[in-house]
Formats: sequence, C-alpha cells, structure tokens
Amino acid sequence: MKTRLLVAAAMPAALVRAVNNGLARTPQMGWNNWNTFACDVSEKLLLETSKLLVDYGLKDLGYQYVVLDDCWSVGRGEDGYLIPDTTKFPHGMDGVADELHKQGFLFGMYSSAGEMTCARYTGSLDYETQDAESFASWGVDYLKYDNCYHMGRMGTPLISFNRYNEMAKALKKTGRSILYSLCSWGEDYVHTWGGSIANSWRISGDIYDSFSRPDDLCACNDPANPACVAPGTHCSVLAIINKVAPYIDRGLPGAWNDLDMLEVGLGGMTEEEYKAHFAMWAALKSPLLLGNDLRVMDATTLSIVNNPAIIAISQDPKGRAAMRISRNLTVPKDEFGVGETQVWSGSLTNGDQVVIFFNAADEDLDMSASLAELFVMHGPGGSADEVKQDWTVRDLWGSEGARMSKADAQAVLDAKSDAERSSVLKRANWYNATEKPYAKGLEDGDERLFGERVGTVKAGGRLEARVARHAAKVFRLQSAGGKAGASKGSSLRDEL
Ligand code: GAL
Repeated sequence: MKTRLLVAAAMPAALVRAVNNGLARTPQMGWNNWNTFACDVSEKLLLETSKLLVDYGLKDLGYQYVVLDDCWSVGRGEDGYLIPDTTKFPHGMDGVADELHKQGFLFGMYSSAGEMTCARYTGSLDYETQDAESFASWGVDYLKYDNCYHMGRMGTPLISFNRYNEMAKALKKTGRSILYSLCSWGEDYVHTWGGSIANSWRISGDIYDSFSRPDDLCACNDPANPACVAPGTHCSVLAIINKVAPYIDRGLPGAWNDLDMLEVGLGGMTEEEYKAHFAMWAALKSPLLLGNDLRVMDATTLSIVNNPAIIAISQDPKGRAAMRISRNLTVPKDEFGVGETQVWSGSLTNGDQVVIFFNAADEDLDMSASLAELFVMHGPGGSADEVKQDWTVRDLWGSEGARMSKADAQAVLDAKSDAERSSVLKRANWYNATEKPYAKGLEDGDERLFGERVGTVKAGGRLEARVARHAAKVFRLQSAGGKAGASKGSSLRDEL
C-alpha cells in the first residue's frame, strides 16, 4: 500500500488522471476465470490457478491480478451486505484474499452496477457503499463492475457516468487502493468519461473465441445494424479491434480501453491467430487478463503468453497505444465476406516504434508501409524527422530467440518439482519482471525484450513483409542513425 502511494506522489502532475489512484500506470495483467469457467468458480480454482501462475513463471512476467468473475454470492443479508457462497469459498473472500496476498498476488472481484449481475446474482446498484465496504474489508484490490440489470439507468453518458461514479466514490471512501475496471461494453460513450473515474473500461460486447467470424449477437460493433439494442456477446478479435480503432488514443497511464479478456489457449483459433490476438491486445494497451484453464495449458499457449518482448510493448512506460495507420478492404474474403488487412504503428518510450502488419484476409499476403506512413503521428506527408533516419527492424515473435521454444515450454509444464521448473526457466534465461521491471529492462537494453534482428529500413524506405493468412507480424523499429535524404526505397525485404 505504501509503495502505491509513493508511486502516485512521484507522478508528474500532467500525467495524473482524474481517477488519480496511482494504479494501472501500465495496463493491468492477470487472470480471470470467466472465459473458461463462467459460473463454475471456487476457492480451489482460484488458488490452484495462482499456484500455476507462479510455477510457470507467469507471475514473474507481470500477471499479478487473480480476478474472480460473476457467481460468487448467495445474496444480500438483512443488514444490507452481500453474503459470499461458503460452499464455493469455504474460507470466505477474505480467506482467498489472504492466501493470494501471501503468494504475492492481488485479488480481483466482480459485481454489477445493476439490480442483478449478468448471471442473475445480486448486484450492487444502490448498495454501492455497503459493497465497497465489503470489498475493502475482505482485502480486495480490483473491482470489475458490470452493466446488467441497470433498471433503465442508461441512455446518455451522464446517466451512465452517475451510476458508475457511485461505486467510484464508494471505493474511494474505503481508503483502500482498489483498481476500478468498468464493464459497460462501450455503452453511452464510456471512452469519453471512463478515464475520469476508473482505471479501465470495456469498449465492446463480450469477446468470443473466434478471430474474425461475424455474429449477430455482437450487434453494436456495426453502427448500421438496426438490431443494435445491446452490445452483446460473440465479438470476434477483428470486430473488437475495428470497434476501438477510432478512439484508441483515449487510453493513457492509469486509464485504459479494455478490449476484454484473452482467449489465447481456449481452442477456437489457430496458433497464428492467437499470436495476433495477444500482440494486438498488448500494442493497443488493453489489460492482459489470461482467460484459459492453466491446469491444462499446452506448450504453444505458454509460449505465446510468456513472450516478454510482446509484454514489454504492453508495459512500455510511455503508455501510448499503437494507432491504425491504414486499412485495406480490397483483399480476398472468407465465406462470411470478411477479409481485410491493417497496419498499426505506435511510439514507445525509448524512441522505438512498434509496427504490426495484421492480416485478416483469406490469403497469405505481402504487406508494406513506408516510414512516412509509419511515423504519420509525428508529422503527416513524410515530414517527421523519423522518416529521415535508418531503422533496425526486430521481429518480436521471431523464429527462435524471441519466443520460448516449444520444447522449453513443455519442460516448464512437465516439471515435477519447483526446483526442476526454476532450472528450466533459468536455463532458458527467461525474463523475470519481479527482478527487473520492464521499464528497467528497456532502459538497460535487455536483449530478451527486443526480439530478433531481421534487417533494416533505410531513411525514406519501406518496411515490407510476407504475412500469413490470419496472422500478424510484429516489429520493433530501433533508430540506427542515418541522414536526412539518404537512399530511397531500400526495404527490409532487400536484406532477407
Ligand atoms: C458480462 C461481462 C463478462 C462477464 C459476464 C458475467 O456482462 O461482459 O465479461 O463478466 O458478464 O456474467
């Protein structure tokens, strides 16, 4: 607690957001049970998962919040306070919190700004004070606050703001540091007011385990859809990316657009699709909350979510999301009529640039972007200084080196003892953000955060790459000096 207050005090005034609780200066990371387990929750599940987060080295990569979603109570007592389900949580919520804190985790819980939660458990509307008191007294560090059964109290930004602000004020009044995560699915322009009272806000209906399949239940991602009465569920990775693109710049340290919890490892996407999903969530500065069952995680999944070079993009101290600089809809489409490519580019703290070639077309494609396009945020028409320099290009997935090998990931999963696991992680020289926070690793130039060097782009040149169908190439561009007006048109391809 003391540390957090110190961090808040040390923040430059200009960066302090209205919520001003000092939390989530970089997007929060952790695990949430909903995507895999829905209402099948228990103390056992949370604590088995937290143990695996430690064992697999994920806690040391930054996954520090263990978040319990819906379905944990048996209602409200006559005194007005919520009663936890002691069949599911025999030691109470404070028992879970204590255990998680002992292991070095932070504990998240869930409620709804409605009469009921979405799974029809008791909600917190009009009981904000009591419920915030309960959360604080149990030792809760994070509240995900949903939007179901709001009793009609929505329809304008102000009505929604007021409803969510009641809980913000109640949490503040407890004096406990509690990360506040809004789950109003993008309703009532939450991106325009969420940052005033909360650390993150969901921007869409619920994600589902599909890369690009459109679904009518994700109604509101298509503004022209007359059936858009609620943001819904079954939103694909592509639908969510397209929804947030126009206001991706609303995210800032302490207050983030939430693209929803990760689907990596649930089985509905290919490995390349999951890599693209994970990298986009990192570069767009969404919270990174794993949603898979860690007890049955495979090596492929582990070697996606434990890539420190990708996580370092999410946790970059500059805290600016990449922005979409181009979108091409005239590419081969799938049976649903979906197919597009996108280029995203964003500034990082040390002057590096993250670039993502995102291929949601139905074919492998050559993609490219000029330096003038990639640095448009620093000056349109090629006027940015960055266009006049050479850039070293690093691939953040790489072939080997940037990502844990499947054999090592399997060895981590199969290890029979803590000692055996630590020795695999040590042998693989795996990154440990508990020992060295990302900000320090970036400052030190720790190679494990910078991916694999694959070429250069000369001043005035283009970055080009072949991108597989339903995949993303993720690059970090590092300044390599060079002079204004140096050679034109030399590309990464020339060197490959
Ligand atoms: C939805 C929410 C999901 C999950 C679910 C629980 O509204 O978007 O992430 O929390 O409710 O019922």
